[in-house]
Amino acid sequence: MAYLHILLTLSLLSLITLSSSNPNTNTITLSLSPIFTKSPSSDLFHSLKKATSSSLKRAHHLKTRKLSKKNSPSSSSTINTQVFAKSYGGYSINLNFGTPPQTLSFVLDTGSSLVWFPCTSHYLCSNCNFANINPTNIPTFIPSKSSSTRIIGCTNKKCGYVFGSNIESRCQGCNPQFQNCNNITCPTYILEYGLGSTAGLLLSENLDFPGYIVPDFLVGCSIFSTEQPSGIAGFGRGAESLPAQMGLTKFSYCLLSHNFDDTPVNSNLVLQTTSTGDGKTSGLNYTTFVQNPSMSNPAFLEYYYVNLRSFLIGGTRVKIPFYLSSPGMDGNGGTIVDSGTTFTFMERPIFDLVARQFELQLANFPRATDIEAASGFNLCFDFTGNNSIPFPELVFQFKGGAEMVLPVDDYFSLVGDGGNVACLTIMTDGNSVPATNTGPAMILGNYQQQNFIIEFDLENERFGFGAHICQSNA
Ligand SMILES: *[C@@H]1O[C@H](CO)[C@@H](O)[C@H](O)[C@H]1NC(C)=O
Ligand SMILES: *[C@@H]1O[C@H](CO)[C@@H](O)[C@H](O)[C@H]1NC(C)=O
Ligand SMILES: *[C@@H]1O[C@H](CO)[C@@H](O)[C@H](O)[C@H]1NC(C)=O
Repeated sequence: MAYLHILLTLSLLSLITLSSSNPNTNTITLSLSPIFTKSPSSDLFHSLKKATSSSLKRAHHLKTRKLSKKNSPSSSSTINTQVFAKSYGGYSINLNFGTPPQTLSFVLDTGSSLVWFPCTSHYLCSNCNFANINPTNIPTFIPSKSSSTRIIGCTNKKCGYVFGSNIESRCQGCNPQFQNCNNITCPTYILEYGLGSTAGLLLSENLDFPGYIVPDFLVGCSIFSTEQPSGIAGFGRGAESLPAQMGLTKFSYCLLSHNFDDTPVNSNLVLQTTSTGDGKTSGLNYTTFVQNPSMSNPAFLEYYYVNLRSFLIGGTRVKIPFYLSSPGMDGNGGTIVDSGTTFTFMERPIFDLVARQFELQLANFPRATDIEAASGFNLCFDFTGNNSIPFPELVFQFKGGAEMVLPVDDYFSLVGDGGNVACLTIMTDGNSVPATNTGPAMILGNYQQQNFIIEFDLENERFGFGAHICQSNA
C-alpha cells in the first residue's frame, strides 16, 4: 500500500491553540439527507429490489460482524475490524474537519463506531463507479491543507479505541522500556465489509461546528477503499464513535420519507452536548436500551439493543419467541436499532409468525408470488380492482408498555406496474440467502423509522420515538 506512505510523510504540525467553544451552544443541528443513488433504469421497482438485497447483506453483516481488535495478539501491524456492507437507502450528514474547515459527506451509521473520510488527493476507490457516482471525483479530505492535522501515535490512548489496550500489540518494533515508542504511528486500520474494505491511518483533527469546535477528534483518513464513495460517521457505542468522543447526552433525528429518488431534501440530526437530566421530550414514548450480557462478540457491544417483545397486527397480539426477544448468554438474539439498514430484518421464526398473521387478515387477496420472487420481498399481495386496501395496523410493543404505531407507508409499499401489488417491507433470510442465526434476531431499519422523531437518549440509556411528519428543511 504505497499510498499509505504519503500520509506518513506529511509534516507533523505542532499543536495549535484551539478556538474556544461557545458555552451557550447546547445543541448542534445538522442537515440529514436521504442517499438514494438512482438505479440506471431509475424506476421504483429496481430501487426497491436493490434495497431488499442490500438490507439482507447489511443484516448478514451486522449478525456476523467480528471485531478482532480485542483478541489480537497479532504479529502484524494491521488489525482488522469490520464495517457494514454499504446500504442502498441510507442517510448522510455533512461534517467539517480541519483548519480551515473542509466539508465532507458521511453516511450516518448507528451500527458501527469509527468516523472516517476519503482522504488525500490520492484516494483510491475501486468498484465505486456504481449508480451516479464518478469514482475519480470523490470529495476527499486533504490533510496538508489543514493546520490542525496530527497523526496518532501508537501510545496515544485514542489509538487504543480502535486497536485495544495492549500497547505492545499496537506498537510493533517499540520496546516501552527503551522509551522509543513516541515516534511510532498507530497501526493502519483496515475495515472489512462483505466484498470490500477501506484502509487508512488514524488522525487527530478538529471537528468543527458553527461556534463549536471539538479538538483532538479521532478520525480515520482512508486512502484506499472498495465501494465506499463517501465516509462513514459511526454513531455506535464504541469509544471511537462520534457521540462517545463528543460526550453527547443524546442525539435525535427525523427521517423523511424514502422516495427512492434524488430529490435534494433533508431533515435534521440534532446533537445534544449538555445534560438535560432525566427530562423526557414531550410527545415521545420511551423504552430502555438493554445491554448485551455476553462479551463473546465485542462487535455486538457497539449496537443499540431495545426490548421489543411483541407486535399487534390488526389488533391481534403476536409474541416474539422468548429465546429470540433479548440477547442471551451466547450474545445472540434481541433487537437493535440501525440507521444504516433500510428494511427491518426479522429472523425466520419471528418473520413467519408476523407473515402468517398478515396472510390471515388479508386472506381475500391473492399472493403476488411472481413479484415476491422478482423483488426479494417475502410477502406481497395483489389488490387489483380494489381501490381501498384494508391494511391491518402494525404496532411494535416494547417491554414496559411503550408502543410504536407504524404508519402504513412504513411497512407496506406499492410495487408493480399499476401499483396493484403491495409488499410487506420487512425482510427475512433463508430463501435465496442462507439464514444466519447469530447476532441480533431483529434489526429495526430506517424504513420503519420514517416520519418518527427518533431519539437516542444516551444519558438515560433509553430509546425515544414519536410520530411526526418530518419536514424538509431544504
Ligand atoms: C524513534 O526514536 C528512537 C529513539 O529516539 C530512534 O532510535 C529511532 O530511530 C526512531 N525511529 C524512527 C522510525 O524514527
Ligand atoms: C375487491 O374489490 C372487488 C370489486 O370492487 C370487491 O367485489 C371485493 O369484495 C373486494 N375484495 C376485498 C377483499 O375487499
Ligand atoms: C405511545 O404509546 C401509546 C400507548 O402506550 C400509544 O397509544 C401511542 O400511539 C404511542 N405513540 C406512538 C408514536 O407510537
